[in-house]
Amino acid sequence: MSDALAVLGGSKVRARPFTSWPVFGEAEEQRLVRALRSGKWGKLDGDEVAEFERRFAAMHGCKHGIAVVNGTVSLRIALMAAGLRAEEEVIVPPYTFLATATAVVEANAVPVFADVELETFNLDPKAVEAAITPRTRAIIPVHIAGQAADMDALLAISRKHNLIVIEDAAHAHGARYQGRPAGSLARLGSFSFQSSKNLTGGEGGLITTNDDELAEACRSIHNCGRVTGGLWYEHHVMSSNYRLGEFQGAVLNAQLDRLEEQTQTRDSNGQYLAAKLKRLPGIWPQRRTAETTRHSYHLFLFRIDAEAFGAPRAAVLKALQAEGIPVSGGYALPLYRQPLFLNRAFGPYLPNARRRLDYAKVDCPNCAKICGQQGAWLEQSLFLGPKSDMDDIARAFEKVYEHRGALAKAQL
Ligand SMILES: Cc1ncc(COP(=O)(O)O)c(C=O)c1O
Repeated sequence: MSDALAVLGGSKVRARPFTSWPVFGEAEEQRLVRALRSGKWGKLDGDEVAEFERRFAAMHGCKHGIAVVNGTVSLRIALMAAGLRAEEEVIVPPYTFLATATAVVEANAVPVFADVELETFNLDPKAVEAAITPRTRAIIPVHIAGQAADMDALLAISRKHNLIVIEDAAHAHGARYQGRPAGSLARLGSFSFQSSKNLTGGEGGLITTNDDELAEACRSIHNCGRVTGGLWYEHHVMSSNYRLGEFQGAVLNAQLDRLEEQTQTRDSNGQYLAAKLKRLPGIWPQRRTAETTRHSYHLFLFRIDAEAFGAPRAAVLKALQAEGIPVSGGYALPLYRQPLFLNRAFGPYLPNARRRLDYAKVDCPNCAKICGQQGAWLEQSLFLGPKSDMDDIARAFEKVYEHRGALAKAQL
């Protein structure tokens, strides 16, 4: 048996840090300085954002890309462009970042939560079908962690019930489903470039679509309701200034040159680690579906079986952290348990629907189990290093499992 657990005074499996994030260099500097010196700092004047929109959309199998200030606004604009009417319902998963649901509220529509599958952590099509009412108008599947949701089943449901599907691809830059890129699988897709994301400009977001009319609607909404051929001070729809700036466009263009190689490395490392961890009793890595031709591993998701370890998730995580593995329990609450939803603290939105909404009654047992007991994450930058980094991570898991008796006794 290896040395004692680090959390109980032994030495760490991994003393060196993993790859830090963001990864950047001269290319980012040159693009930024060029944008600065051009004096064209806004999207309306410069070329960086326009170039980024073209290249990002093309890489993701789409004709159009509309860059905006973040990945929350991109969801909201997509909903508005899709023509959602006040207080219609949008089905979302509860295992996601807050924005997937609050963007719906900000579009003055009602988020309805449908459970996720325990093994994939992705929206469960059966739960979606069960959540449909006469008011349902859209579904927002999140490609959680960078693995595409079950789009065949979800699109079939959308056709049957005449619903719009908007992909929340905030985790899924470069991910592929049956060979097709995330962001091109439904009518509209939404990406985020916030600091933690696999492609980042500090902040930023982008809408993808192959539909000319939807693209035109998104362009108008992100640019104060202006229309092609219209006057500068002519505004047609409810909208705002959601345009991304040129400095962010410059950084994103340089980062985009790195994306393909980084995505391949993450996917290869992620699969390698999953194969190793699968052998360990008590660790269940996110199941890779047959349709996943590329996982972007924004997160490496797994579940911990407390029974197999004889210790709760929190103790296992603490022990792994002490071994030098930056691991976390991830989203702590299903979104419907957030005070915002329990208290219907919707500000000026949903003035009528809020009376009949009671999120305390929502129950998504798989999501509750993942958030409350089993779920855990490793973040994307850990997957940018060599295979030996994966070996270190696996060794730490093995060590904690081997020493589960001591861990249980310690009652951390
Ligand atoms: C799944 C998901 N959707 C939407 C967002 C919102 O993106 P942003 O932070 O750029 O607004 C995020 C992350 O931040 C996310 O993780």
